[in-house]
Amino acid sequence: MKDNLIIEGSQPLYGSVRTSGAKNAALVLIIASIMAEGQTVLDNVPKIRDVEVVIKILNEIGIKAKWQDDGSLSICPPSGHVVSNTPYELSKMLRASNLFLGAFLGRQGEATISMPGGCDIGSRPMDLHLKGVQALGAKVEIEHGYIYAKRKQPIGASIYLDFPSVGATENIMMMAAKTPGLTIIENSAKEPEIVDLANFLNAMGAKIRGAGTDIIRIEGAEVLQAVRHQIIPDRIEAGTYMIAAAITGGEILVENVISTHLHPVMAKLQEAGAYVEENDSGILVKAGNKIKPVDIKTLPYPGFPTDMQSQMMALLCFAEGTSVIVENIFENRFQIVDELKRMGANIKLEGHTAVVEGPRRLNGAKVKATDLRAGAALILAGLVAEGKTEIENSTHIYRGYENIAGKLVSLGARIK
Ligand code: EPZ
Repeated sequence: MKDNLIIEGSQPLYGSVRTSGAKNAALVLIIASIMAEGQTVLDNVPKIRDVEVVIKILNEIGIKAKWQDDGSLSICPPSGHVVSNTPYELSKMLRASNLFLGAFLGRQGEATISMPGGCDIGSRPMDLHLKGVQALGAKVEIEHGYIYAKRKQPIGASIYLDFPSVGATENIMMMAAKTPGLTIIENSAKEPEIVDLANFLNAMGAKIRGAGTDIIRIEGAEVLQAVRHQIIPDRIEAGTYMIAAAITGGEILVENVISTHLHPVMAKLQEAGAYVEENDSGILVKAGNKIKPVDIKTLPYPGFPTDMQSQMMALLCFAEGTSVIVENIFENRFQIVDELKRMGANIKLEGHTAVVEGPRRLNGAKVKATDLRAGAALILAGLVAEGKTEIENSTHIYRGYENIAGKLVSLGARIK
């Protein structure tokens, strides 16, 4: 198959790799740009499939988005009303298309978006998103798989999130940024991507305080002016390369990172026996002489990120002992277990808990990427497995990892 990745189990990886811009910041900032008057320019946007899809959606609905010669991305919405009906064929490919809800309600007081399809890690409900926008005065109807939202009497409100949902926090922030009065989000998500969104909106003239904590206050603004903004580095991409050093027994310097965003991953890698050092050019990870078993619980930031769970599971197949992984964020994020078992891993599943017995020598096999992080984890396992590993559906991986084959080859991997 043309889009399969083939990895030869190889010797340790050595060298340095530069992290690209964060997928989960880029997607929401590109979408938030539709609320600005004028041309937004975003730097450090990763050239990944999810970004290409959101650019396509914007151009389909009449909002010009295009790459500039200097590598930046410009977004230029027309003045006046835009038809907000995001095309189903495109939006079903991208969970983040649900973020058009808050951006369009903020821009023009109405939004029509298709209910994002479920994906391989869970049902991905939107109840908290809808609770938030309704509290801000939007009337919401769901018909034929579409959400129709229209702002009646826009007014700021206090919203308590039952779960610190990243997307719901972002949708509420975007709508509230242009809703008159004070909005307070309690139990808000604290991820670094939320902080990047708040910094971006504030540069545009919004008045948002408390991003990064669990209470965010937003004063509605009349107008938001387009600005130039640099996307933060991708902490999940960086963490994936840090694990590549530990799993292959090598040494990798991951450059262009904000190391505070990676403390949960650094701590767990150290616990697993790797040498991890923060220096002014990035984070250096050197494999220890053995991999120790560790227990992982995924939690909202600053807990251990669910987006690194599969990658840690691959590493822990080689640990000398038993590791327990509890996935608390998504109800179905263990699809990789069956694929790792095809490679010889010894993993037992009990509901939200996976028990990983090690050390196991994995051997190459034909496996399938079920989501982008599982796909990245299969690459990590393939780097160490004996023989050849072929990953089907590897386009999942290109959704969120810019030039992952090229970056790994530059570190000595045999991958094509
Ligand atoms: C964002 O997804 C990220 N995606 C995900 O990254 C990440 O895994 C996730 O946050 C958690 O950190 C983007 O930013 C584009 P949530 P999001 O709303 O916003 C439940 C990747 O690999 N929930 O925080 O969809 C939901 O079911 C992707 O880069 C509700 O119950 O995540 C899930 O169990 C995967 N009701 C939990 O919250 C709602 O209304 C976390 O979801 C919304 C969410």
